[in-house]
Amino acid sequence: MQKPQYDFTPLFSMVMESITFTAVLNGLRLGVFEAVAKSPRQASPLAEELGLQPQALQSLLELLAANGLLTEDAGEFSITPLAQEFLVASSPFFQGQFLELHNMFNVFIESDMAALLRGDASKRQVTDDSWSDHDNMRGTMQHALLGELQDTVALIMDLPGFSGMRVMCDVGGNHGEFSMALLEANPDLRAELMDLPRVAEVATERIAERGFSDRMTAHACDLRTETLPVDHYDLVLASHILYGFTDQLESFLGVIHDSLRSGGWFVAQHMDPASALPGTVKASINLITRLAGYKAHFIGQEQLEKALQSAGFGEFRTGPAGIGESGLVMAARKK
Ligand SMILES: C[S@@+](CC[C@H](N)C(=O)[O-])C[C@H]1O[C@@H](n2cnc3c(N)ncnc32)[C@H](O)[C@@H]1O
Repeated sequence: MQKPQYDFTPLFSMVMESITFTAVLNGLRLGVFEAVAKSPRQASPLAEELGLQPQALQSLLELLAANGLLTEDAGEFSITPLAQEFLVASSPFFQGQFLELHNMFNVFIESDMAALLRGDASKRQVTDDSWSDHDNMRGTMQHALLGELQDTVALIMDLPGFSGMRVMCDVGGNHGEFSMALLEANPDLRAELMDLPRVAEVATERIAERGFSDRMTAHACDLRTETLPVDHYDLVLASHILYGFTDQLESFLGVIHDSLRSGGWFVAQHMDPASALPGTVKASINLITRLAGYKAHFIGQEQLEKALQSAGFGEFRTGPAGIGESGLVMAARKK
């Protein structure tokens, strides 16, 4: 009998990848990681504690162990340092809400992929609307804390004149944590967060909860149709927002340029096409981004530098940001 010429394993692995992620997400939702982090457990007592079927849980635990999130020793499962850092709520780098946020994007793209590929459906409005959800905001913040926030803030604090800055704008600031970190670093700085109307409302609540209302305000502003105040800011920050404007990059950068005082800095943070992130991950991110209604999630250093130059910026500074240095931070000064 004839047998295939090629090994089917790569395709078989792809089919199984989605069940792995679903298992991780459900392990998280059902409290498996929290329980195992408290003390190593066998499947049976853990199943009783969580109200689950022992044999089903045994398989889930084995799958989590096969993927490096648990270890198994004589039937007893323990948490690994990787899962302890990202999947246990008490960790400062807990990513539970980020996984939920991405799962939501994946599900709404997956469920309509053929129609989106044919151009018979659009997700841009649903995507824009999703940013104001409290949980999604928390997820976006959790992702920033993987390093993008720390690296971007460090680059800004190192800019000439940082201590003399008085007013900054956080374009598409969402959760506002980038601004709040900068306000902590410079007590004379005030921040204006610009975002879509519903996001601005929730951001105002977050700013109050974090005790920054006297130095930070959130404003409703759709930057596709509205502009920013002119000659007003010492610093404009745009983290993970330029991708929404790649089809009108030069005019958008022109608006930012006009909003800065002479000598003011613009800092962009976004995904770097030249980063070491695996090619398969980059390609998946690009597909989700396109199908969600945006042109691209990655903007190269050369492309951005050229656009910034034509908008009247100079004195470029760059640095890597975030997990696997997947992000690019670029600072440019208004001449
Ligand atoms: C991926 S989030 C980035 C949040 C934050 N800057 C960060 O890096 O963690 C993108 C933000 O841009 C906002 N946004 C998207 N389109 C916008 C527009 N046309 N005008 C203003 N804000 C917009 C979204 O509402 C969302 O809050």
